[in-house]
Amino acid sequence: MKKVKIFDTTLRDGEQSPGCSMSKEDKIRIAKQLDEMGVDVIEAGFAASNQKDFEAIKEIAKVVKRATVVSLARCNKKDIDKAYESVRDAVHPKIHVFIATSDIHMYYKLRMDREEVIEKVRECVTYAKGKCDEIEFSLEDATRSNPDFACRVIDTAIECGANTINIPDTVGYITNEEFKNFIVYLKCNSRLDEVELSVHCHNDLGLATANSLMAVMCGANQVECTVNGIGERAGNAAMEEIVAAIKTRSDIFDAYTNIDTRKIKMISNMVIEATGSMVQNNKAVVGENAFKHESGIHQAGVISERQTYELMDPSEYGIEEDSIVIGIHSGKAAIVDKIQKMGMNPFDYEIDEIVKDIKSYCESSKSVPDEKFFEIVSANKKYRIALNKAM
Ligand code: KIV
Ligand code: ZN
Repeated sequence: MKKVKIFDTTLRDGEQSPGCSMSKEDKIRIAKQLDEMGVDVIEAGFAASNQKDFEAIKEIAKVVKRATVVSLARCNKKDIDKAYESVRDAVHPKIHVFIATSDIHMYYKLRMDREEVIEKVRECVTYAKGKCDEIEFSLEDATRSNPDFACRVIDTAIECGANTINIPDTVGYITNEEFKNFIVYLKCNSRLDEVELSVHCHNDLGLATANSLMAVMCGANQVECTVNGIGERAGNAAMEEIVAAIKTRSDIFDAYTNIDTRKIKMISNMVIEATGSMVQNNKAVVGENAFKHESGIHQAGVISERQTYELMDPSEYGIEEDSIVIGIHSGKAAIVDKIQKMGMNPFDYEIDEIVKDIKSYCESSKSVPDEKFFEIVSANKKYRIALNKAM
């Protein structure tokens, strides 16, 4: 099986999303946890963007033990100097240089033509390589770039020393099949196979995870992602989704990651706490309801055999709480199971009455909290008498 590196950009692209800025202390805590859970590359920030970011990256570079620490730089010497300065103390430092390669970005944003962009890539990747052995080069808006021009840019960056080439879907534009064809085209028409291939997908059409996984199938060695999928606009590919998909369907990806999945819920909570940005209840893997069941049919299935309705074992993702939610759709099997788990033992003939009481409570409440559940069961008159007699 091939290893897929996880490049986490929660602290850079994630932090760039509205309302997601984090304190230096929180960033350091998160970086340490990312390192411990097996993330291969941590993009700690964009050093030239502001002094606070620069200082946070510098601190992170000192505390991270295993992972490579990366700082982002535009294609200019000042940015590259700052980026290198911020990561130079890391055990494994890396500079991430990027420039836009789509006609729309080059014309309206950079005011440069194709030849000028090629020259900038040559100049800046060579300059960055003179400072740091490890260089990642990104073609911003790659998926809307002319494929033959993208191949020329890739070859120039590789010739000047880039170790990793990153293909971003910057505005979340590309569809699954198109991304496959684009990557295959780049691999067949450039020197891409000589270096590490990374992808960086945004989620504007909800395709970030699917596109990243398609790239893995096409040979990508690295996926760029964020915890909880935070990031510009609709966010980046979510780390927990990429990791869970590769782990759960290793049969088709023939790949693995280095991530200790039991730490996933914890890092998700840390990012929620640091940014104040919640995840929706039905968010894959880390959402409140990701492993919960309320319908009677599903509950009976899970009680009999977990895998009937649970694709993944929640404890493998750091989720220990009970997956059965007692609500209006619950059936007798789940209610009896919960009664037993709570250590109570009503007579068989009382169960129907208890089920009726619980259902009637659920008509006015969404679900039954544990205390209320206990109260309803023990308030059953005959059951109380039985308990009293036994005492
Ligand atoms: O989305 C993007 O293109 C980026 C690059 C800077 C890699 O974040
Ligand atoms: Zn991005």
